[in-house]
Amino acid sequence: MAFTPNLIQPDQIQSPQDLFNFCRDELIIGVKKSKHPFHLCTLCTVMDGRPFARTVVSRGVNPNLTQCRIHSDKRSQKNNHIMQSPNVALVYYSPIQKLQVRVEGIAQMVSNTNDADYFFDTSSPHSQLCYAFPKPPGTVIEEKTKERRYPDISIHDIDAHRDHARKNFSAIFITIQSMDALWLSKSEHIRMHGQCINNAWDLKFIIA
Ligand SMILES: Cc1cc2nc3c(=O)[nH]c(=O)nc-3n(C[C@H](O)[C@H](O)[C@H](O)COP(=O)(O)O)c2cc1C
Repeated sequence: MAFTPNLIQPDQIQSPQDLFNFCRDELIIGVKKSKHPFHLCTLCTVMDGRPFARTVVSRGVNPNLTQCRIHSDKRSQKNNHIMQSPNVALVYYSPIQKLQVRVEGIAQMVSNTNDADYFFDTSSPHSQLCYAFPKPPGTVIEEKTKERRYPDISIHDIDAHRDHARKNFSAIFITIQSMDALWLSKSEHIRMHGQCINNAWDLKFIIA
């Protein structure tokens, strides 16, 4: 999908709410537009006091920026981490817009089967296939790739593997508790911090 970045001028940011609104709108665009830099983010989890970071696709952001969604294999490390400790952080960076958004929140696997079915069913066949392999992500293999290890599992017969893939699929909601946005504008750097309490945002400019 084509992507034309929305660019802002410093005088468009008069209040923390202006910067918040811009970030929120761009994050929502990033879910749908695969070329938008906010289509990807870095998800950080914690295990035994150690941080772990990896790239994931941004699958959902709600209109008030209080919840976002990612998809993952139930058997993955990140899911194990989240079950041990639900505290996560996400970082989005758009180089073309010179905009960084960081959020912190509480992650939870989507337990409603209908919702999870919907998220799985509306994923592309290629995305669904990622979950169809019998061994968990991270398992050592002799071959170079899982496709070589399991040649019978291919996009051509995704229908035969969809049920198994669905069993390994998980959608994860992150309830956002705080956000930090930094816009490196040419003339000045503008940074804000937001705290979300009872679904309402308290927003402040802070030193960049
Ligand atoms: C561009 C890109 C997008 C990715 N998107 C996802 C994703 O949406 N979900 C996911 O579980 N892994 C995704 N991955 C793979 C993860 O970065 C990671 O390698 C994998 O999930 C295993 O991580 P874990 O062992 O920490 O769970 C993506 C990787 C890249 C490079």
